[in-house]
Amino acid sequence: MKRKIMVILLAFAMLIPGCAAPVAEPEATTGTPTPPATATPEVTPDSAAVYEYGDTRAIIDFSESLRCYLLYPRTGIDAIDAPIFDWAHGAYADAQEDMQALRKTDPGVEGEINVQYNSYLRGEAYACVEETGFYNNSNMAHQRDFVKVFNIDVGDGKILPRGEILAPESAGDVLELLRGKLREAFPELPELGDDADETWLENIALTDGGVDILLEAGRHLPSYLGTRRFALTYEELGRAFVLFDQQFNRPAAATDPTPEPTPEPTPPPTPRPVPPPGDFSPRDEIDPAKPMVALTFDDGPSGVTPRILDLLDEYGGKATFCVIGNRVENYADTVRRIAEEGSEIIGHSWDHKNLVKLSDAAMRSELLDTNAAIEAVLGFSPVLYRPPYGNVNDKLKAVSAELGLSLIVWSVDTLDWKTRDANKTCDAVFNDVRDGGIILCHDIYDETADAMAYVIPELIARGYQLVTVSELLSFSDRAVEAGAIYRNK
Ligand code: NI
Repeated sequence: MKRKIMVILLAFAMLIPGCAAPVAEPEATTGTPTPPATATPEVTPDSAAVYEYGDTRAIIDFSESLRCYLLYPRTGIDAIDAPIFDWAHGAYADAQEDMQALRKTDPGVEGEINVQYNSYLRGEAYACVEETGFYNNSNMAHQRDFVKVFNIDVGDGKILPRGEILAPESAGDVLELLRGKLREAFPELPELGDDADETWLENIALTDGGVDILLEAGRHLPSYLGTRRFALTYEELGRAFVLFDQQFNRPAAATDPTPEPTPEPTPPPTPRPVPPPGDFSPRDEIDPAKPMVALTFDDGPSGVTPRILDLLDEYGGKATFCVIGNRVENYADTVRRIAEEGSEIIGHSWDHKNLVKLSDAAMRSELLDTNAAIEAVLGFSPVLYRPPYGNVNDKLKAVSAELGLSLIVWSVDTLDWKTRDANKTCDAVFNDVRDGGIILCHDIYDETADAMAYVIPELIARGYQLVTVSELLSFSDRAVEAGAIYRNK
């Protein structure tokens, strides 16, 4: 119960202006993270800092037939969480069903579903969660983009239906505005949007200046245009925009966006010493003659990560955190804490795409953008990384070699993402653990942190030293080489 309240408080605390000051803009580093040149929808909004709304929840599936990485938020408020949960699990179930049908004629077909979300604070009373991603497969059948927007009334703790944002009777006017935007953006396609009906207004996202309408590639727009957003301002929407009327009883026209006060420049955080990249020199207290293992945690950082750090701190172990690039800026404090406490940070791709399916250029962006995000926080760029799903091919090895990066996989797979059961995660560790092992876990599940409350002290009690992957490899007979794969000491 206490935890639930904490989550709710956290969710609200993050929505209080000032409390939720945007993360200090990192100094310009090489290669500001840009969406990789793949099927990722082009739907990044112009404005607004990204906020972590609630806790991140994930659906992860390592199966070769359908690789899934799907994130969604959970606030602890059922009226908000249930529709988001249903949408996320529905999207996954649809992909599973499609793959099952495809497998009937082609047993070797492989698919991937990759969906991420961004959340934004809108004014003082609203938040907006935007889920975007794709589903595709090796048969190129039924490929689609995913776009789903949830506008949230934070005060009332509910999801706003479209009718409370835009007047239902104004749908025709809004569609006409939208057609105008389409003609403006694509003058060479004058008929675009002629067939637009209310289903085109399914994904409206509250913005600071009005709403964005998100249109899906392959559904509303020709696939080659990609998924796009079109901004409609309060002024353009006029009486069609009813949200403020209902909430504050004031006309939409009176809602001039007030200029944002210039934020006080925040002094940069005092840097504390963290180990440089490729520092394979182990801590003095490690005894090379005694058994050692490397616990590794993928797919964070998340709200669960500090629980694992607390346990490591309590029992005196270190671990390696394989982070998703697009989460690093939002969790900069956690990233700093990991490094300051002597654990290791390495990359795990920008957005968890199955790298082996990407072009060379897209592979490079996934790796370099992630390392740039880490460098912006820690001041150095790791030389190890973990490929999503542990999937590697010759092209990925070649690109990694060229970038000076070594690939870290694992010798023990806890399957914590699948079982979501602390006891089973513990069993998986102790059934397979050996000296020099690398153990795969995920710091995005409470059940994994629950398991670690037993695993960490128990490993130590059994004589294992809990070391980082770099420390482990420093005791290996094998040299650490770029482009090579390591699964144990
Ligand atoms: Ni992963």
